[in-house]
Amino acid sequence: MARLDVTETFHHISFPGHIHTQDSLNYALHFQFQDRDTVIATYPKSGTTWMQEIVTLVKNRGDPQLSKTVPNWARAPWLEQHYSAKVLEATQGHRILTTHLPYNLLASALQGSKAKVIYVARNPKDVAVSYYHFHKMAKFLPEPNSFDEFLDSFLEGSVSYGSWFDHVKGWTSQAGVLANVLYISYEEMWLDLQGSMERISSFLQCPLVGEELTNSLRHCSFSSMSDNAMVNYTQIPKEIMDHSKGKFMRKGIIGDWRNTFTEKQIGIFDTVYSYQMKDCPLTFMWEL
Ligand code: A3P
Repeated sequence: MARLDVTETFHHISFPGHIHTQDSLNYALHFQFQDRDTVIATYPKSGTTWMQEIVTLVKNRGDPQLSKTVPNWARAPWLEQHYSAKVLEATQGHRILTTHLPYNLLASALQGSKAKVIYVARNPKDVAVSYYHFHKMAKFLPEPNSFDEFLDSFLEGSVSYGSWFDHVKGWTSQAGVLANVLYISYEEMWLDLQGSMERISSFLQCPLVGEELTNSLRHCSFSSMSDNAMVNYTQIPKEIMDHSKGKFMRKGIIGDWRNTFTEKQIGIFDTVYSYQMKDCPLTFMWEL
């Protein structure tokens, strides 16, 4: 079988070649956003799938029918992946779009658009650990060696989808530039899912009431999503995602990095973080 972990380099960033082509990446760059689109933008492992589930539930007023019958990638396709043009052509009405692209690559397509953008960020120590484990099970990403080596690549931004720092700084500097943008963190969602759901649903102008809200909360809990084959990626063939190497719905907690980082790695990380984020007002909750 041909290797899956080939990379596609686009604007100096590596993307998994199994799911991206130059054409699909260019398609995203020149995408015609519509005002009624909802765009979920994230760096990988920051709560993308969770937000896809939340937005699906909000748009369906808590009815889990769609969440339970259609895979996340089909109901909230990644703009830049090779299948998205086909999926989007077949989509009618309101569209939920997902992207891992950095802001600068989508800036011109989004310029002047009233599409609603939700940007989810997660503390990067947990992102790095989650991403490391994901590299072990996702066969379209290079097999990682030690966490130490992976962390170096993560900090220098040479992993797939590029630098976490550039991604987060790029998207969060757009308050006031993009017409409709909501920033939310994985940690806020984790600590107060109900408050987050209320914020998201009112941003999407679909405020949920009563059972709509309680049903939505139930269906996007970690345990419910772990059991939902439409979001836990267990339907994907083993050659592409090998669940014997780790689950996609792995732990879903804040502060798991403590179980992986050594003192030395914490020191290196904190030095790079302080330098990279010195002009960025964002703060993260690192552990409970
Ligand atoms: P962990 O690997 O730390 O468990 P993405 O969808 O951006 O790839 O992010 C995946 C991460 O989000 C995984 O983190 C996954 O467990 C976590 N996640 C997914 N759904 C979640 C939920 N409902 N509650 C908490 N964490 C969730």
